[in-house]
Amino acid sequence: MNVQTAYNAWADTYDTVANRTRDLEAVAIRQLLAEVPFSEVIELGCGTGKNTEWLAAKAAQVTAVDFSAEMLARAQAKLASANVRFQPADVTQPWRWAPPAVDLVTCSLMLEHIPDLSAVFQQCGRALRPSGLLYVGELHPFKQYLGSKARYLADGTEVTVECHTHHLSDYLAAALAHGLQCVELREFFDADDCRGVPRIISFLFQKKA
Ligand SMILES: C[S@@+](CC[C@H](N)C(=O)[O-])C[C@H]1O[C@@H](n2cnc3c(N)ncnc32)[C@H](O)[C@@H]1O
Repeated sequence: MNVQTAYNAWADTYDTVANRTRDLEAVAIRQLLAEVPFSEVIELGCGTGKNTEWLAAKAAQVTAVDFSAEMLARAQAKLASANVRFQPADVTQPWRWAPPAVDLVTCSLMLEHIPDLSAVFQQCGRALRPSGLLYVGELHPFKQYLGSKARYLADGTEVTVECHTHHLSDYLAAALAHGLQCVELREFFDADDCRGVPRIISFLFQKKA
């Protein structure tokens, strides 16, 4: 199903139905950014705000962006922080709404819905200040190779959201092409069991100084 339509329909149950990918990515972003100071943040594909409140508690200002009006409405209803600005926008289009020279851009579980990584990495590279960071947390491509996709139940019927597989080399190449170097890569496993297939891949990229 078309991504925007799918998330508008999923918004009602996104937070309440068990979802290991959603929950493990929340662990990943908190671990990778635990020791990182940041003030001005752009959160891409903020959804219902799973990570927005945590980012807002550490930052001076968060611009939380999503193109699903229903997902954004859930995030807005949860978060009354004065330092969060919710921005309806398609992140593959020019970021006219972006504040200049931000410290951090985050992107959680959104890039699997974007066909061309370059369109987003290019704008991340422009939005970040020199030495600024891009965090990416995604369903691991190994899981995608085995058939995992974003999906939910609507009236008992499984709905699969339009997804694209990005290989590890695709992330690294898109970043390098836009002046971003990988400074950290971590994999997260269900129940911390490293013998299985990792569920989440997370990266920190840094813009050249
Ligand atoms: C799986 S949800 C992740 C939400 C949140 N980041 C989280 O980790 O729970 C993906 C989100 O990305 C948004 N999204 C997907 N493609 C987008 C695009 N091109 N522009 C803006 N938002 C997009 C969807 O509307 C949805 O809210």
